[in-house]
Amino acid sequence: MREFLLLGLVSVLGLVSLTLLVHAEATELSKTCPPSFELLAEGQCKLRTLYDFYDSPAQHGGVKVRLPELETTYTPQQIDLGRQLFFDPLLSGKKDLSCASCHQPDKGFADGRGQGLGARQPGGVRKDLSRSAPTLWNVAFLKRLMWDGRASSLEEQALLPLFNPDEMANNADQLQKDLETTPAYVDLFRQAFGAPPTLDNLARALSAFQTSLVSFNSRYDRYAYGDASALSDQEIRGHNVFRGFVARCSQCHIPPLFTDSELAVIGSPALPGKAPDPGAGGISPDPNLQGAFRVPTLRNISATAPYFHAGQFNTLKEVVHFYNDNRGHAAPKDQNLKIHWHIHMTRGPELSKEDEADIVAFLGSLDDQSMTPPVPKTAPSGLPVAPALNLETP
Ligand code: HEC
Ligand code: HEC
Repeated sequence: MREFLLLGLVSVLGLVSLTLLVHAEATELSKTCPPSFELLAEGQCKLRTLYDFYDSPAQHGGVKVRLPELETTYTPQQIDLGRQLFFDPLLSGKKDLSCASCHQPDKGFADGRGQGLGARQPGGVRKDLSRSAPTLWNVAFLKRLMWDGRASSLEEQALLPLFNPDEMANNADQLQKDLETTPAYVDLFRQAFGAPPTLDNLARALSAFQTSLVSFNSRYDRYAYGDASALSDQEIRGHNVFRGFVARCSQCHIPPLFTDSELAVIGSPALPGKAPDPGAGGISPDPNLQGAFRVPTLRNISATAPYFHAGQFNTLKEVVHFYNDNRGHAAPKDQNLKIHWHIHMTRGPELSKEDEADIVAFLGSLDDQSMTPPVPKTAPSGLPVAPALNLETP
């Protein structure tokens, strides 16, 4: 904080122009919905995709399956306010982390690390988190959030990192006071909610913004919509292996979201020298959930290496090989895990090297970041927006 004050005071001129910029950015929230969303007469944004036209039953592996309904109670102004909040380090206890520090738009809304870096500890070093930051693409569709599934809605989830002492390390009183005493936010919350800032509305705006992070314009989607030329021959072969009953990937990574939001025990290896993460077993006494993790989406998967809950695998090639070679046997031996029946087979699926490479190629066809929202030039608080912050230097 002191550094920011000093920086800000270095030049009075600089400060004046900064305030002007902040003013320019913050004065009026968007009245239009993000691309892919239609503005309804009631003022809310509704997602429109070609999947709206499909009605095949949610059969595993089928391509013409509807998307689950997305809650559409958010207005353009609430989504835009959420965007400004998402990038603003004002939300963290030490004013040096925003949501975007760990969910970076240019890293698929993850952060490129196996384990996140959290709040600064005494001495200036950041807390090593035990898990990786998941992507936020299509996150609003998930029935379970977090690697262990411990949250079930975005609004419930939003407050977790804010008040977690290892992550943003803020507290309710300070956050409320900071928002109330930042004139730009008083104005922006009034535009979005017709009321002064509250923590409930903060959580609502952050959810509204995250709901707008949709990705359904990949080459795979064009293929699913009927354009057979959208995928290469190798990708089509990979798709067929992916959804076939030998590899069984689409039994859990079900299209079109490429996840079923369920918890599954697949026998993930522990990180070398670290105790295995119990996953959902850490918050439930059910022995069947020991080592269970929420099935992650595979949308934009090529942007979010390393993979698995703690970055155990660096490449998609390694992940696919894990499923072929170690089918349920990479888990620490003393764990006695109840491996999911789609994983636990007496013999592995015995995919060929070509099959493995074809799956990897297919996964690349799920890339679509065309709806990446613009990063605000300045945060309403006047603090530098988060992707510019250097996480590692104290
Ligand atoms: C210090 C890094 C960090 C910051 C800052 C951070 N997150 Fe996260 N986020 C994570 C990690 C790590 C996880 C996974 C934690 C777990 O599963 O135990 C996560 C999980 C999530 C999830 C669940 C995604 C899923 O697929 O289940 C959402 C949603 C999310 N964060 C949104 C936010 C929002 C909104 C903010 C700002 C208020 C934020 N995060 C700030 C690191 C961070
Ligand atoms: C029984 C359900 C299930 C099946 C079948 C399955 N997966 Fe997964 N997959 C998961 C779970 C659960 C995780 C998260 C594991 C963890 O983090 O420890 C995961 C993680 C992944 C990841 C890493 C995602 C990330 O964001 O880090 C990829 C890639 C992946 N699976 C691809 C595949 C492929 C390819 C197949 C078929 C060969 C497959 N999966 C079969 C449940 C499944």
